[in-house]
Amino acid sequence: MASNKRLLILPGDGIGPEVMYEVRRVIDWMERRRAVTFELDEDLVGGAAIEATGKPIQPATVEKAKAADAVLFGSVGGPQWDRLGFELRPELAILTLRRELGLFANLRPAVVLDPLVDASTLKPEVIRGLDLMIVRESTGGLYFGEPRGIETLPDGRKRGVNTEVYTTDEIERVGRVAFELARKRQNRVCSVEKANVMESGLLWRQTMTALREREFADVELSHMYADNCAMQLVRNPRQFDVIVTSNLFGDLLSDLASMLTGSLGMLPSATIGAPEPGGKRHALYEPIHGSAPDIAGRGIANPLAQILSFAMLLRYSFGMDEEAGLIERAIVTVLGSGLRTADIMAPHSAKVGTQVMGEAVVRELDKLAP
Ligand code: IPM
Ligand code: MG
Repeated sequence: MASNKRLLILPGDGIGPEVMYEVRRVIDWMERRRAVTFELDEDLVGGAAIEATGKPIQPATVEKAKAADAVLFGSVGGPQWDRLGFELRPELAILTLRRELGLFANLRPAVVLDPLVDASTLKPEVIRGLDLMIVRESTGGLYFGEPRGIETLPDGRKRGVNTEVYTTDEIERVGRVAFELARKRQNRVCSVEKANVMESGLLWRQTMTALREREFADVELSHMYADNCAMQLVRNPRQFDVIVTSNLFGDLLSDLASMLTGSLGMLPSATIGAPEPGGKRHALYEPIHGSAPDIAGRGIANPLAQILSFAMLLRYSFGMDEEAGLIERAIVTVLGSGLRTADIMAPHSAKVGTQVMGEAVVRELDKLAP
């Protein structure tokens, strides 16, 4: 049975549009073969929006995102916009969407697919079978805390200020997302902060402990300092199931975790808000990789993280587990057959570009679900 699902596509800059084009193939396939219709809308964000409108995101785009059932985001940024002030930079597009849609929980999985076990710089025996999830708080902390700014002191020196600030309710709501995810996985949450030097970290630890006692006594909770966590992620990443942490630490640790898998080009992410009374939950899906301006327009970018972001969207926003699973299986098979984009190239593999990779995924989908 067909039902409309409203999807806003925001390709952005750099490789964003190229890899999004490959997602379109997968969307077409879904509509052809799975009796599902998407109501698609597309808009400009980031540098593309700056060039067209003077701002990284227009209020109308934010409204479209609010009205959509889910947002599929590409990536933003590029050297030509680096000199702009914070209020004009491409990155403001994603930060604005997180804030305006209340997308407080950023889910960043790091999964090592078997065919790619050799793509990591770490030894295969350390990362084989890795499957961890970082839940990063994404509307608070140092990214949004006040006061912030650069001021000039009376003696002419300048002073730059940002504030790390968390309230109990902000910690609890992201904590709940982590505990609930853990219940569907290995039932273990590691809460990460710097309670040894930061008050906000101490409150984070106390709040997570109390939350577990009150609502999630069945889930195992451990605590770790963020610096130690960085070290443990490289030493023995499989000790983790779900990691929950603040905005800034999550930004750093998720980049680190993603590289355990060998390629940023493989990893999707989801950012979700609170469930609304009608049951709707704002959500935005994006690859972890950036806009990669150095390889943009050359047709060599890896489209798989963007396609996997769409799979995540199907699973979390539309409950389409079966279709999400099909996409994930198709990708594993394509990689197993030896096709590789440049970023995950391995000996005895065939190097292909963005389009060939996208087409191969669709061909595999055809085989899996004719
Ligand atoms: C990310 C990015 C963003 C962030 C930038 C583009 C603002 O690094 O999503 O991890 O720092 O959150
Ligand atoms: Mg980042």
